[in-house]
Amino acid sequence: MKSKIIEKHRSLLVLSNRQIQKNFCLMQLECPEETDSILPGQFLTVVLPSKESLIPRPFSILDAGKSKITIFYKILGKGTQLLSLIKKGEFLKVLFPLGNAFPNVPVNHLVLLSGGIGCVPIFFYMKRLAQSHKTDTCKVKVYLGASDADHFFFLDQMKRWKFDISLSTDNGSLGKKGTCLDALKEDMKQGKKVSAMLACGPYPMLKAVAHFGEDRRIPAYLAMEQVMGCGFGACMGCAVPVKDKKQAYKMVCMDGPVFESKEIQWEPG
Ligand SMILES: Cc1cc2nc3c(=O)[nH]c(=O)nc-3n(C[C@H](O)[C@H](O)[C@H](O)COP(=O)(O)OP(=O)(O)OC[C@H]3O[C@@H](n4cnc5c(N)ncnc54)[C@H](O)[C@@H]3O)c2cc1C
Ligand code: FES
Repeated sequence: MKSKIIEKHRSLLVLSNRQIQKNFCLMQLECPEETDSILPGQFLTVVLPSKESLIPRPFSILDAGKSKITIFYKILGKGTQLLSLIKKGEFLKVLFPLGNAFPNVPVNHLVLLSGGIGCVPIFFYMKRLAQSHKTDTCKVKVYLGASDADHFFFLDQMKRWKFDISLSTDNGSLGKKGTCLDALKEDMKQGKKVSAMLACGPYPMLKAVAHFGEDRRIPAYLAMEQVMGCGFGACMGCAVPVKDKKQAYKMVCMDGPVFESKEIQWEPG
């Protein structure tokens, strides 16, 4: 299985790779093959050109189309540090598109929730929605959460798409103080309707969204960004416990990264 997967890696030209904010980088790759069929929620893995970091690193796709793929990543450890040093004109071994995608759900009263770097697949979903719907009338509301005012990304672009956007920060430096889910709860107290939720963010946020949805019978689809090893189903490193009677775990890399919240066993069974 491993060699088959490695054969599928493609060598993509790096068109740009720059830090747009301290520790946050935007990388654009040239992809002569079909990019329009890549879907929001899908991800790619990058093999780093260094013996020091052999494990491929997964990143959600921020944008794809017109023979280009864009990712947006935070410099966290050795792998992302090495990635940030890659220069325009170099080639990277990339495996894509991987994973499932956010489902197509009715847009009426749909809610999108993003926490921190979880904005990546949400941005892509918004872009595709903006291409297919009148965003100012389709009743989709986007709740973006960040630690502080400096950690919102691509806001100008999102605003140009005319979505109804709510901002919240943990420290109250921009928008409402609290989480994006707190902001949604507040709106629901004022009568806001919600038909479904799509979310991406840190695990505790996704767990809170899942419980919130289950309590109110609102379907929630969550893009999970579990720490990964192999990226193709061999190491079990990305296993999440599920409620399925036939299997105890599913793999984020092969079965996800998007799961309906009720599939996941959030509490020890
Ligand atoms: C499906 C998927 C999509 C992702 N999309 C993005 C994205 O769009 N942008 C982005 O910046 N990152 C994304 N990530 C996370 C990204 O893969 C990791 O940040 C990266 O692999 C870290 O590599 P590293 O070598 O720099 O850090 P490491 O040296 O491997 O780790 C440094 C520290 O970060 C922690 N860490 C590593 N991976 C994760 C993770 N997934 N979640 C939380 N903590 C982690 C480690 O436990 C360690 O403490 C995604 C992960 C998955 C599984
Ligand atoms: S990362 Fe190895 S099984 Fe998913």
